[in-house]
Amino acid sequence: MTDLSPLLTARYGLGAPEVPIDAFAQDTTLPLLLAHKSVRHFQPKPLPAGTLEMLGAAAQSAASSSNLQTWSVVAVQDPSRKAEAATLCGDQDFIRQAPLFLVFCADLARLKSASEQEDLPGAALGYTEMFLTAAIDTALAAQNAAVAAESLGLGICYVGSARNHPRELAALLGLPERVIALFGLAVGWPVEGETTTVKPRLPQPGLIHHETYDTDARDAAITKYNATMRGFYEAQKMNVEGDWSKHSAKRVAGPESLMGRETLREILEERGFGMK
Ligand SMILES: Cc1cc2nc3c(=O)[nH]c(=O)nc-3n(C[C@H](O)[C@H](O)[C@H](O)COP(=O)(O)O)c2cc1C
Repeated sequence: MTDLSPLLTARYGLGAPEVPIDAFAQDTTLPLLLAHKSVRHFQPKPLPAGTLEMLGAAAQSAASSSNLQTWSVVAVQDPSRKAEAATLCGDQDFIRQAPLFLVFCADLARLKSASEQEDLPGAALGYTEMFLTAAIDTALAAQNAAVAAESLGLGICYVGSARNHPRELAALLGLPERVIALFGLAVGWPVEGETTTVKPRLPQPGLIHHETYDTDARDAAITKYNATMRGFYEAQKMNVEGDWSKHSAKRVAGPESLMGRETLREILEERGFGMK
């Protein structure tokens, strides 16, 4: 039995929802989900045998649009390939440290070959809808793997910088046409005494609406959240100027804040995703 109150407080700071906690106290999944935090320091310790296969099984157990399974993952464990991948993915050292770097890819190549086998045109594969389907399937699968890893006591960190140098990463991983890396997932044992704390999220009215979308409630929640996050950045000695609104607005200020990813549409077309 886990007391969920401190977990909810950590997750929301000033804006935790009112919940009849006792009704959920027996559940073992909620504490795991509520305690999630990205881990960026890993021990040089191998994963137990079978971990990759179990994470794969968890990933494959996610729902998939029409069961099309429009994703693939490349598991990188070879230290030198992983180091190269780390360099391409924002030169983030935790990728080198982690024993396992999973590169999750949108994959329409299998459907292309099924179409050829069935002598059908596969023309829908050239539409943005199919890329989006693949992106959604990929993210759902990855999150299952992430939760599975955390349930085994492992730490994870997603790596969006896998889109910083998509051509080079595709070459490093031998990705065929109609396959593109969407993000990575570093997996490993957190260093002892890893000090990262749970990062607060928006109070629920900021993004959970009842029946219709409520912009006033959303904006009030953002104001509350900014106060929480100012305190969080200070307490964590994070080098973030201002609050969440400022940090986030800067992140989307212009194409230069996309760190090379502003050319993604062109690259998707180049890799065989039609995007009509
Ligand atoms: C798709 C995606 C890409 C991410 N890319 C990176 C990354 O390249 N480097 C990094 O340090 N963290 C990355 N993160 C982690 C986020 O920064 C992190 O999830 C967020 O700040 C919330 O913190 P938490 O995961 O500890 O709750 C990414 C997260 C997601 C979902």
